[in-house]
Amino acid sequence: MPFTPFDWIDDEARRRAAAGLVRTVRPRGARPESLDLASNDYLGLTRHPEVTAAAAAAAHRWGAGSTGSRLVTGSTALHADLERDLADFCGFEAALVFSSGYAANLAALTALSGRGSLIVSDAGNHASIVDGCRLSRAETAVVAHADPEAVAKALRAHGGRALVVTDSVFSVDGDAAALPDLAEACRPANAALLVDDAHGLGVLGEGGRGALAAAGLAGRDGVVATLTLSKSLGSQGGAVLGPARVIEHLVNTARTFIFDTGLAPAAAGGALGALGVLRREPERAARARQVAAALHTRLTAAGLTAVRPDAAVVSVRAPSADAAVRWAADCRAAGTAVGCFRPPSVPDGVSRLRLTARADLTEEQITTAVATVVATAPRQAGTDLSG
Ligand SMILES: Cc1ncc(COP(=O)(O)O)c(C=O)c1O
Repeated sequence: MPFTPFDWIDDEARRRAAAGLVRTVRPRGARPESLDLASNDYLGLTRHPEVTAAAAAAAHRWGAGSTGSRLVTGSTALHADLERDLADFCGFEAALVFSSGYAANLAALTALSGRGSLIVSDAGNHASIVDGCRLSRAETAVVAHADPEAVAKALRAHGGRALVVTDSVFSVDGDAAALPDLAEACRPANAALLVDDAHGLGVLGEGGRGALAAAGLAGRDGVVATLTLSKSLGSQGGAVLGPARVIEHLVNTARTFIFDTGLAPAAAGGALGALGVLRREPERAARARQVAAALHTRLTAAGLTAVRPDAAVVSVRAPSADAAVRWAADCRAAGTAVGCFRPPSVPDGVSRLRLTARADLTEEQITTAVATVVATAPRQAGTDLSG
């Protein structure tokens, strides 16, 4: 009997290829080779000289790695500074830094729920939230996208300890959650509200203080935020922000905090540097929103179907997964890099191009990007929204 335990992988690969869903890793150059509307560098800070200098200085002083988990040798004064600065900037009592936003979501969801409790999760939530729900052992009610009434109903049906979780800005379509309505739904059920502000930090709120600050909910007792340091802050890593007792609970119980090597000093230093730039140049946040609005206006005026952006993500519908892949490739070949979302990354099975509105895009670059996306559009892009 031949030993071929991985033959099933070839079958899956064939099925993926037939469905046009093969993913490939394409290493990029050190400098953008094309106009970049594909990355998450919303504020154009990842190559900002102050940010890269802060990252380099941190590596020189503290080492290339953090050397251990946060509770052993992986916490430095830099981590503590970053936690203080993030909490202060976003308006929360305390913060805890993780090696990624993914790890921060797993931590918050598992530590703040558990067997016998309920998590109410929007159907459009990010994969890291979905995975956090799965790991939590809580009962999870997945409710329709953007439906606070459905959230209230799920909470009423349960009655016990509960946590409502949502993206602040949904990563696929760039629409924002109705945070005040969700907070209202939480109140009668005494439920906590957990908001993943990955796409809101640096873009929404005064000077980029995030979606919770914008909604007047930052620092409220029942409210917790998760962040990534890898988008607006141009670095890498994640964080949970909330009341001090919640953060202390995470230090003691969150497995992705306890059993994971601490964030690399360069990433912590880079994020601190980026926060410094953002405090000094708060107009970057409004500019990112302005660029998104300009992209949306011009793309829809040209006949394409795009969702009105609430932050810096502009989502343009494609007629099919294959067409979306070809469209993105044609844009890249014409000098503009755009993202491409298709199943299984999209919960509704509708494929899209995803354009990132960066604060540092010039008017000329916006014009070039729009002209490229429009010129390469599949013929039926404006009308057929299925697949
Ligand atoms: C909404 C959202 N949450 C969490 C994450 C994960 O953050 P990280 O990349 O830092 O792990 C991402 C994307 O990366 C995201 O888009």
